[in-house]
Amino acid sequence: MWTLLLLLFSPISLAQVPLPQPPFLPPNASAGAIPSSGSVPNSQWSTLLGNLIYFYDAQRSGTLPSTNRVPWRNNSAVNDGHDVNLDLSGGYYDAGDYIKCTFPLSFTVMSICWGATDFGKGYDLANQTPYLDDMLRWSLDWLMKAHSSNNTLFVQIADANLDNAYWGGDQNIPQPRPSYQINATSPGTDAAAGAAAAFAACSNLYSNRIFSNAYSGPATLQNTSYATLLLEHATQLYSFATSAPKTLYQSSVPQAGEAYASSGYGDELAIAALFLSWATNSTDMYQQAQSYWSQYALAGYNGVFNWDTKTPGLPVLFAQIAQANPSFGGNMSTWQTEAERYFDGIVYGGGGGYSTREGGLLYYNGDSDDASLNPALNAAMLLRRYSQIASTQDRKQDYFNFAQSQVDYVLGNNPMSAPYVVGSNPNSPQNPHSALASGGNDISNINTSPAQEAYVLYGAVVGGPDKYDRFFDIRGDWPETEAALDYNAPLLTLAAMHVLNSTADPFFTALGAGSYAARKPAGMPCDAAYDEGCGGPALSEGGKVALGVVLGGAGVVIGGLVGWWGVLCWKREREGYLF
Ligand SMILES: *[C@@H]1O[C@H](CO)[C@@H](O)[C@H](O)[C@H]1NC(C)=O
Ligand SMILES: *[C@@H]1O[C@H](CO)[C@@H](O)[C@H](O)[C@H]1NC(C)=O
Ligand SMILES: *[C@@H]1O[C@H](CO)[C@@H](O)[C@H](O)[C@H]1NC(C)=O
Ligand SMILES: *[C@@H]1O[C@H](CO)[C@@H](O)[C@H](O)[C@H]1NC(C)=O
Ligand SMILES: *[C@@H]1O[C@H](CO)[C@@H](O)[C@H](O)[C@H]1NC(C)=O
Ligand SMILES: *[C@@H]1O[C@H](CO)[C@@H](O)[C@H](O)[C@H]1NC(C)=O
Ligand SMILES: *[C@@H]1O[C@H](CO)[C@@H](O)[C@H](O)[C@H]1NC(C)=O
Ligand SMILES: *[C@@H]1O[C@H](CO)[C@@H](O)[C@H](O)[C@H]1NC(C)=O
Repeated sequence: MWTLLLLLFSPISLAQVPLPQPPFLPPNASAGAIPSSGSVPNSQWSTLLGNLIYFYDAQRSGTLPSTNRVPWRNNSAVNDGHDVNLDLSGGYYDAGDYIKCTFPLSFTVMSICWGATDFGKGYDLANQTPYLDDMLRWSLDWLMKAHSSNNTLFVQIADANLDNAYWGGDQNIPQPRPSYQINATSPGTDAAAGAAAAFAACSNLYSNRIFSNAYSGPATLQNTSYATLLLEHATQLYSFATSAPKTLYQSSVPQAGEAYASSGYGDELAIAALFLSWATNSTDMYQQAQSYWSQYALAGYNGVFNWDTKTPGLPVLFAQIAQANPSFGGNMSTWQTEAERYFDGIVYGGGGGYSTREGGLLYYNGDSDDASLNPALNAAMLLRRYSQIASTQDRKQDYFNFAQSQVDYVLGNNPMSAPYVVGSNPNSPQNPHSALASGGNDISNINTSPAQEAYVLYGAVVGGPDKYDRFFDIRGDWPETEAALDYNAPLLTLAAMHVLNSTADPFFTALGAGSYAARKPAGMPCDAAYDEGCGGPALSEGGKVALGVVLGGAGVVIGGLVGWWGVLCWKREREGYLF
């Protein structure tokens, strides 16, 4: 009797915030078409936040915990690290395939911890803090294993090219899965500093450090010993990044360049120093961050905020910390000016390098050509955060509204009437590019085998529509339908913000079943009728895009689409062609 009670009432794991019993599980997509009663917290935003975190559970690698919520997932890749006599199992699969990549994972985790620090009470209100904690620890515990000694960081597990040749479930993942590292003799400034930034940002969250009362404050998951452990890793990695010769990590590990080649390291050094300044109350660190800003000429940048480039986030964080801790000597108005130069360009126009497309989506030339939603969501996330400390009332309002417009677009207020989060509404994508979820194992026919995706990849934000707002929902079309760890990250923060005080539902509750079906474009993205979508500059730019999409209508590869078919290759090539 007592044993039973103990079992029932003891927390699932003593090491973290206890997971709810029964667990939160995503409801059927049809529930996303039912308007809520409009109270705060809004149940539709809470559910969306829950779904967005649940996606990460589906991406888990290694031995799954007893609390695994995704019934169709199995233990997998449990021997990762054996080639180097280490246990590097665990962590997350990066996207629609089975490689594990430290650089984009670090960015994802940094972004989520930053968001959960500023708008963390949204996670609390939605009862999602235990899952946030669970997700962060699954990431950070693996990153700690990957940081196996002071000056060693494993940056990738499995070879991208080998992995690309496989399409199937989690039971036959190709072997071997080599472990690639940076170290004192083969360093990588960006990867080491990027991981340092993630550890430092999360140490701040686990320490419950609040920036200022412009924000709701951290999610309630404080754990001092965990925060200290994270800070040790942050400090060591920062020291590794700054003491070893400065270089891009793919120059030490060319295999990492196949998937996630980095374009610079000044931004990672600066953001790592900034999060560390705050974690250690160090004026010196803040000033180091300011030095990197000048040394690497980061001012004036108009491009995306993403796994590769953290630059647009820097003035925001500089300003937040300058405001929170004047003893560092940061000049709040200087950082506001730089942040507002960037944001004014987006919101009022004239920045260059991007435009707002016909349907309303913020679109960065080049970077938005595949996975179009990620740049827009990252901008919205930064705008919404920064709007709290903008210099004028007009900007507060205009930045807020612009961020809202992008969130609305992503959640269904777009020419397709499609909410781009899987399983959230009857009009959500049905065919995310995910080897895990598809249920198929015929690499020549991934669109049609099986006819219907085997498992619903709840909570996955897909790549997004093309430049003309068209979304075809084809499994092989990775630029539009792939899911990835970093795609979800900004929407977690935005959803947490909405949970805090939005009475209005996410846009999709207004969409009845069939809205997308009525607007879905016929055929394939590269049919002649859509020439401007494929033959045009967007997809052929540079000629380097080995756009590996098997357009397998009944096994027939559509001809005449040079550049659009060939070997299967995922998301990584889209990054490659920018260089
Ligand atoms: C804090 O985290 C550590 C490390 O995961 C764990 O051992 C400990 O039990 C946690 N403490 C609390 C109070 O949850
Ligand atoms: C969701 O509900 C609809 C309608 O009630 C049903 O047809 C469908 O099979 C359900 N989907 C899942 C994944 O359970
Ligand atoms: C997990 O294993 C079961 C049973 O073998 C299988 O049906 C399922 O497809 C597997 N899941 C994945 C993602 O491969
Ligand atoms: C250091 O990293 C390089 C590049 O990944 C690798 O070839 C080398 O074996 C590593 N050195 C040690 C001592 O493991
Ligand atoms: C919503 O919450 C944010 C963050 O706490 C706050 O800045 C904003 O003013 C609130 N909005 C409304 C309408 O209450
Ligand atoms: C690792 O770094 C810590 C502090 O960052 C230092 O105390 C320790 O001596 C280092 N270990 C080695 C083996 O260099
Ligand atoms: C940070 O350091 C300053 C002095 O440099 C000190 O006045 C302040 O109390 C410290 N803040 C915290 C939170 O420790
Ligand atoms: C901050 O910088 C502005 C110029 O951007 C300058 O006018 C102001 O005096 C500076 N404030 C302080 C406290 O140094």
